[in-house]
This record gives sequence, structure tokens and C-alpha cells, in this order.
Amino acid sequence: MVKKYEELKGKRVVVTGGASGIGKATVQRFVDEGAKVVAFDINEKALEAVKAEIPGLAGTVAVDVSSEESVVNGFKKVDELIGGIDVLVSNAGISVRKKFVETDFAQWRKVMGINLDGMFLCCKEAVSRMMPQKSGVILMTASTNGMEGHPYYTDYNASKAGVILLGRSLALECAPYVRVNSVCPGYVLTPMQRAEYTDEMLAVVNEGIPMKRHAEPEEVAALYAFLASDEAKYITGQHIPIDGGETA
Ligand SMILES: NC(=O)c1ccc[n+]([C@@H]2O[C@H](COP(=O)([O-])OP(=O)(O)OC[C@H]3O[C@@H](n4cnc5c(N)ncnc54)[C@H](O)[C@@H]3O)[C@@H](O)[C@H]2O)c1
Repeated sequence: MVKKYEELKGKRVVVTGGASGIGKATVQRFVDEGAKVVAFDINEKALEAVKAEIPGLAGTVAVDVSSEESVVNGFKKVDELIGGIDVLVSNAGISVRKKFVETDFAQWRKVMGINLDGMFLCCKEAVSRMMPQKSGVILMTASTNGMEGHPYYTDYNASKAGVILLGRSLALECAPYVRVNSVCPGYVLTPMQRAEYTDEMLAVVNEGIPMKRHAEPEEVAALYAFLASDEAKYITGQHIPIDGGETA
């Protein structure tokens, strides 16, 4: 039986990258908790599918998190749809598996633009609404790749290390009113992961994880629900691995 958090009922929640993988599972989880949820995503077709799949959703908005104009307009739409924000799950991100020498500047800029600039832009909009109301929770999807080195993802890893310190620093500025934490998933079975790993590669990865498997997106969504709940009201400025023991 899934634990429910009464206090999440009616909370105004924005999830970025909400049309797939971890974001979609998080949208579903907060809708199940009775929250008013708006999903942002750049993929309009996938957003339409999510809208059909999750009828309790308060709204979807096509937003490119790497564009300031798009993010500002997205949050204006959130104000119209649900009247503000209590919880931000800033989750949209991309990864490209490439050797450092083959990573060109355009790819570096693109990964940084979505994974790090996107977090900055969404946090700015959320903080400017949460601080005056003296309450709110900001959660970001970083990665174990932001905690330690991994080959072939130098741009991605640098962006995720940035997310962790963005969160830790922002938590200090926003305390005691707004809590800020990031979550560091290890390997999660999502379309992102499927796009870059063959079945053979997945099997090799699973063998190296103490829990012998990838995480399900719903397991990360459960951590987000806990961190947004009152049970986590003393947790801020942290980056929390959910990795089946990988970093242990
Ligand atoms: N899958 C993993 O193993 C894993 C591990 C650690 C961290 N993460 C992180 O989790 C987050 C979600 O990843 P996922 O695995 O669910 O991937 P996913 O590809 O299934 O979902 C990512 C979503 O983000 C959206 N998106 C991409 N660019 C965007 C933009 N510019 N603006 C708005 N939306 C955009 C995509 O359309 C997609 O719907 C990412 O930040 C990723 O880095 C994933």
C-alpha cells in the first residue's frame, strides 16, 4: 500500500519534463495525492498523451526550460491555471553519451542550457512566488553523475554537479521559509536510459548495482512526494541519492 501524505492534497505543483519518465511518474504521484498539478514539457505531443492518460491533471504547458521567455510565460500560465505554486519539481534534462573529445561546444551549451540554465530559470520563477508567501518546496533532479565522475558524459556530469550546488546554496538563501533539495537518481529505467543503452548494456549495469536492477520512475516519484511532505520539513540543502547502493 502506497503511503499518502494528507497535506499534499490541494497543493499547487509544477513538474518540468513532466511528459516522460521520472517527470511523468511524479505528475501521476502528485495527482494521486490530490495535488493540483501542471506539467511543463517541450514535447507537445507527449504532453497531449499525458493529458489523456492522467485526467486529474490541472493543466499542461509547452515550455522550453532553456528559454527565459518560455519559462516566464509558462509560470504566468501556472498562475492562471492554479493560482500560484507550492511545490516545484524541476526535472527536465537531457543526456548525450559521447567521449569528451567528440563533445562539441554546441552540445555542451545545449546540455548546460537545459540541465542547468533550465533549473536556474524555473527556480527564479518559483522563488519569486514562494518567498513572499513564506512557504514552498523546491526539488530538482540532479544525478549520481553530479556526485562522482563517469566517462562519456562530461557535459551532463558538470551540469548535474551544478544543480547540486545551486540547490544547496539556494536552500541557505530561502531558509527558513522555502526548502530546497535535489535528488540524485542512479540508473532509472526511462525512455532516456532506453535511448542510450542496449539490453546487453543494461544487463552489465544491473550486475554492478548492489540492488541488481535499475530504479523504477515511480520510486523516484515516491521520494519527491516524501520530500514535499511535512514529514521532510527539517530536510533542506541536501542532495539525496536514490541509486540502489551504487554510490555506497
Ligand atoms: N534515467 C536515468 O537513469 C536518470 C538518472 C539520473 C538522473 N536523471 C535525470 O532525470 C530527469 C528526467 O529524466 P528521464 O530519465 O525521466 O528522461 P526522459 O527523457 O524520459 O524525460 C525527460 C523529459 O524532459 C523533456 N525535456 C527535454 N528537454 C526539455 C526542455 N528544453 N524543456 C522542457 N522539457 C524538456 C523531454 O521532452 C522529456 O519529456 C533528467 O533531468 C535526467 O537527467 C535520469
